[in-house]
Amino acid sequence: MQMPKPQNIMFMCQVKRPPNFPKPSCVREGKEDLFPYTQQKMMEMGIDPERNWLVPTGCLNRCKFGPVMLVEPGSYMYVDLDKDKIDRILEEHIKNGNPVKEYLIAEEFWA
Ligand code: FES
Repeated sequence: MQMPKPQNIMFMCQVKRPPNFPKPSCVREGKEDLFPYTQQKMMEMGIDPERNWLVPTGCLNRCKFGPVMLVEPGSYMYVDLDKDKIDRILEEHIKNGNPVKEYLIAEEFWA
């Protein structure tokens, strides 16, 4: 059986730390369901999950900018995600290959 190479890999941080932990978490109040939301949206938009992998991941070391998602290839680090941003990233970047620049982390934090 042939396994196609992925076109995009989306690494979505799924860290949820205990309350009062000194670092913030990407899975935070009001944004707990971004991962299943993204899965659902991909299905609705006809995005092939065999070619576009959505991968839950551990800390990507940009905790204060969370929720974050790193898209490869290209090391595009999306920050402060919400459902509206996910919709646009899926449509413009994942479907059409145009990264959504205004949702990316500032260059000084990603050099
Ligand atoms: S907890 Fe998500 S980047 Fe650190």
